[in-house]
Amino acid sequence: MKQRTIGPFTVSAIGLGCMNLSHAYGTPPPPEQAGRVLLAALDAGVTLFDTAALYGFGANESILGRVLKPHRNKFTLASKGGMAGVQFDGGVKRVIDGRPEAIRRNCEDSLQRLQTDVIDLYYLHRWDKKVPVEDSVGAMSDLVRAGKVRALGLSEVSAATIRKAQAVHPISAVQTEYSLWTRNPEIAVLDACREIGAAFVPFSPVARGFLCDAVHDVSAFDAKDIRRSMPRFTPENYAANLKLLPAYKALAQEAGCTPAQLALAWLLHKAPHIVPIPGTTSVAHLEEDLGAQAVQLAPDLLARLEALVNQDSVSGHRYSAQSRTEVDTEEFTA
Ligand SMILES: NC(=O)c1ccc[n+]([C@@H]2O[C@H](COP(=O)([O-])OP(=O)(O)OC[C@H]3O[C@@H](n4cnc5c(N)ncnc54)[C@H](OP(=O)(O)O)[C@@H]3O)[C@@H](O)[C@H]2O)c1
Repeated sequence: MKQRTIGPFTVSAIGLGCMNLSHAYGTPPPPEQAGRVLLAALDAGVTLFDTAALYGFGANESILGRVLKPHRNKFTLASKGGMAGVQFDGGVKRVIDGRPEAIRRNCEDSLQRLQTDVIDLYYLHRWDKKVPVEDSVGAMSDLVRAGKVRALGLSEVSAATIRKAQAVHPISAVQTEYSLWTRNPEIAVLDACREIGAAFVPFSPVARGFLCDAVHDVSAFDAKDIRRSMPRFTPENYAANLKLLPAYKALAQEAGCTPAQLALAWLLHKAPHIVPIPGTTSVAHLEEDLGAQAVQLAPDLLARLEALVNQDSVSGHRYSAQSRTEVDTEEFTA
């Protein structure tokens, strides 16, 4: 695998997003399959694994802890706090809580589930707008001093918030949705990361399956599939978005790669500080995705690709109205 840099870490140019091994896109795979995907990634040279306290309300970190503990010195472990499952009325609900005491508790719980003494890269999953970001990042910097985490990151924040956080503690990475169909980081965040020397980690880099030509019938989504609440995947918007795919697939063919690889190769070509983290439940898809690192895209093809799939050609917002209130990123209107 080619290598890129995130703060003090040298990592594979493509990491593994582990969320969908425990939740998000329908029924998660059985634990044995999740384990096979993690170990196949490690065998293929992936050295960045991305999880969060939120994913499966802790189940995702537990899987990583169980499967990857014997290999802990071979990879950079990234997790996130400040948004997690909280018990209520016999159930569990997702809560954004960036108070220092919540961050400290999230981190302790994550360390236990991950079966490790230290998390390499610890992100604030969402900026809790009720808490100054300086306070949340201040608590995270205490975790660095205590040796519980090594470096800090932020997720779904604006350039202004990145700079406020950077004034408290060096920020090694910013993780936000970025792909051909979600270009918001191009407004200001990619530049802010370059300016402060942080890596940029695009999440949902293959557009939650859309850019893999893997989603044809949105009415077949499982009841728990999070794409059900995303405006781009409503039947009407998705039908419009599907019309982009024939020309997109033709460009992939011209580039000599698959649609998923084209989406990832485009990100790798955008800047050297970008490290995408596609998610998959399939070893075959993992191998295909990692193949993107070898794909070369000519400037002319890149230009045609960007003209084809962008914020103006896509129908529907990336997030629901509720989720939009929870992020702090500069957004193109859709
Ligand atoms: N910070 C945040 O707020 C945040 C939010 C969302 C995600 N994330 C992180 O980013 C990671 C990736 O994002 P994501 O999972 O939302 O989106 P993604 O990587 O864009 O898309 C994942 C979807 O694409 C499919 N897929 C991947 N490669 C494929 C291939 N080669 N062929 C066909 N289908 C393919 C997967 O299905 P299969 O399982 O069938 O391969 C899955 O349904 C997550 O795992 C998580 O770690 C962070």
